Amino acid sequence: MDQPPPAGMHWRGTPVSRRSLLVGLGAVGAFLAVDLGAVAYANDWIGGATTLTRQSFIDRFQSVFGVHPGFRRNHAKGVAVRGRFDSTGDASALSSAEVLRAGTSPVVGRFSLGGGNPAAVDAAGTVRGLGLAIGFPGRHQWRTAMLNLPVFTVNSPQGFFDQLLASKADPATGKPDPATMAAFLDAHPETAAATAIVKAHPPTPGFADSTFSSLNTFWAVDGSGTRTPVRWALVPRQAALPAGKGGDDVLFDALVRQLESTALHWDLRFTVGTGDDPVDPTLPWPPDRRVVQAGTLTLDTVETERAGNARDVNFDPLVLPDGLEPSDDPILSARSAVYAASYRARSGEPKSPSAVQVDQVAP
Ligand code: HEM
Repeated sequence: MDQPPPAGMHWRGTPVSRRSLLVGLGAVGAFLAVDLGAVAYANDWIGGATTLTRQSFIDRFQSVFGVHPGFRRNHAKGVAVRGRFDSTGDASALSSAEVLRAGTSPVVGRFSLGGGNPAAVDAAGTVRGLGLAIGFPGRHQWRTAMLNLPVFTVNSPQGFFDQLLASKADPATGKPDPATMAAFLDAHPETAAATAIVKAHPPTPGFADSTFSSLNTFWAVDGSGTRTPVRWALVPRQAALPAGKGGDDVLFDALVRQLESTALHWDLRFTVGTGDDPVDPTLPWPPDRRVVQAGTLTLDTVETERAGNARDVNFDPLVLPDGLEPSDDPILSARSAVYAASYRARSGEPKSPSAVQVDQVAP
């Protein structure tokens, strides 16, 4: 499935013109329109104390957030973006991934809010997501879906499954039931500890000034097969526009306005772990770990979700290029299995228009 860069596109090591990059993005778009997602799971069983399957996750998302045909079962509300990644080449010493060699790669992405309600009202405290597909489809493409959190709040698929139910809003109060939440936290002390870290890093005002992190740990593998544990983060270079007058989409509207007037930039940083650093995503790594500046993400185009753009991409965290490999964090394989099930369900269903209509956002 590997495709060469389109004719005329200068690819590695030399600058690309805006026109040539757009030609390249057209090729990516054509592929994405028929993306079947990565089916990286070996069987239906995901793990956990109970018999968790990808379908039990889909059922749980739907029982908590309702059934919304055609939409993602989690991170249902979002907008599609495009841009490029300019690699410094400095991460090449860690990983042989082609997109990490000095040069420019096209990017397709999607900003989202956590939760399965595609018409949710934007709230500052709702977790923000950014999914990226970096580079051309095939074994050199790198997909990653990141969150604006410093750590994840659970360390197992079972924890995520239980947390979904414990966080479900009680229709009478609009808030999670305190007794159910207390019982969940008693059973998951890692969540109480991680939540304290999250609270110490309150969300920034908008999408544009959010730091998006991998949270899960991966292996960077160099050309001679040496494996180094890494986590990565996208660190913003700009402030966010203030949220506007109000309405249901204040965070997305501010992002759309900002992207329609200027390109947005994030630095991609790899944190280099040691063999002693935890894979558990609720646990931060020591702050003195080496950081490698891998390059800069530039996003310059924003679109309403539609057929053929990021709406139709499965940002499966196990779609990794040669040179990056998953750690044994069980959350990664669970994510891959459940994203594929969500992708398959939504791509076979009729879909109503997305809540955020980019051309209706006032300048
Ligand atoms: C067991 C744990 C998890 C489960 C079951 C889960 C489930 C899901 C599902 C079903 C989707 C929608 C997929 C689709 O239809 O394309 C999704 C999207 C997403 N998830 Fe997760 N997730 C988990 C953990 C995580 C973690 C650890 C992160 C970040 C580090 C993350 C970040 C995201 C993002 C950013 C999206 C939206 C991507 C997009 O725009 O398509 N999730 N998740």
